[in-house]
Amino acid sequence: MSFSRCKRLIEIGDTVILYISVTNIYALEVKPTVLNRHGKEIENVFQTRYGCLKITDLIGKEFGSKITLPKGWVHVLYPTPELWTITLPHRTQILYTPDIAMVITQLEIGPGSIVCEAGTGSGSLSHALLRAVGPTGKLHTCDFHKERVQVALDEFTRHGFSDRVTVSHRDVCVDGLGIDGEADAVFLDLPKPWEALPHAVISIKAEGGRICSFSPCIEQVCRTCETMAALGMKEITTLECLAREFHVKYITVPIIPDSSDAAEELKPDYNTETQAKKMKLDIKTSDSEDTNSEDTKVKEIVPSTSKASRKCSESKFMSAISNLKMPGHTGYLTFATVPPGLKRTC
Ligand SMILES: C[S@@+](CC[C@H](N)C(=O)[O-])C[C@H]1O[C@@H](n2cnc3c(N)ncnc32)[C@H](O)[C@@H]1O
Repeated sequence: MSFSRCKRLIEIGDTVILYISVTNIYALEVKPTVLNRHGKEIENVFQTRYGCLKITDLIGKEFGSKITLPKGWVHVLYPTPELWTITLPHRTQILYTPDIAMVITQLEIGPGSIVCEAGTGSGSLSHALLRAVGPTGKLHTCDFHKERVQVALDEFTRHGFSDRVTVSHRDVCVDGLGIDGEADAVFLDLPKPWEALPHAVISIKAEGGRICSFSPCIEQVCRTCETMAALGMKEITTLECLAREFHVKYITVPIIPDSSDAAEELKPDYNTETQAKKMKLDIKTSDSEDTNSEDTKVKEIVPSTSKASRKCSESKFMSAISNLKMPGHTGYLTFATVPPGLKRTC
């Protein structure tokens, strides 16, 4: 099994992604039997709302297949770092795909890159880094939590990354990242990244490289930026990735003559439901056409019988409406460049 390249058929020992619906996705290991709580070996069966799935039935099926169950169907997908991020067993807070995409782009990581990471945590970012560096690159990841180091190492091995990863148990703020002058990029997800920054400089190649630190709080960001500047790093930039969902909906809007009294009142701006209400438009909610997604509702905005809207004729068009109340903040990403030959201060 490898997260970095594809194969066609499911075999024993593979990790598969079971896609039931957009909010029901699971990572399963293809093991014909498991131990029950009395230590007895029993058939491995996964319960779903469409009935139970015998794991042995997956062996020999193609990745991407539709699997019929007693009361419906599910899909088995090939595992990617993105699907792993949304299904992995959480041992810590993790990084999600929008932040991960920004990290890989801004750190300029690609095939052959040598990258240091601390801490490993649940290995969410590590999986994406391991795919990005490819078979000719290397990821050196560290964590001071012994058990997490062991579990991460087992996962990386099962997922086919053992050729390109080292996982070490160390306190990077005291002992450093264990790499001297070799790394193209360093990524830190630590409570006190400023303590690890002098060590990060030591890990970076003499030709220079890039550093990123992820922190959930702005106070941590300020201290990180001050330390980066004091160490002589350049191009210090903090970014925040905010996820915003857009729902594609049909909207019926009034066509307003320029001179109409209603023109000002019904000035078109269809971005939010609040504005739709201001325009005295009603919002109708109906079930989605996607029968396998129970959570999706489609909203349609139509003119009400208010005085202003009665004056106008109507036009129906498709629009994307965002929910401005959606939470998106996971943290801040602070990037910096280590210039060639930067003085080491450790
Ligand atoms: C939030 S988790 C990292 C999550 C990871 N980025 C992911 O996407 O799964 C932070 C990790 O840093 C580790 N850690 C904290 N301080 C550390 C230190 N000084 N040295 C090494 N690891 C440290 C913790 O044990 C924890 O596992």
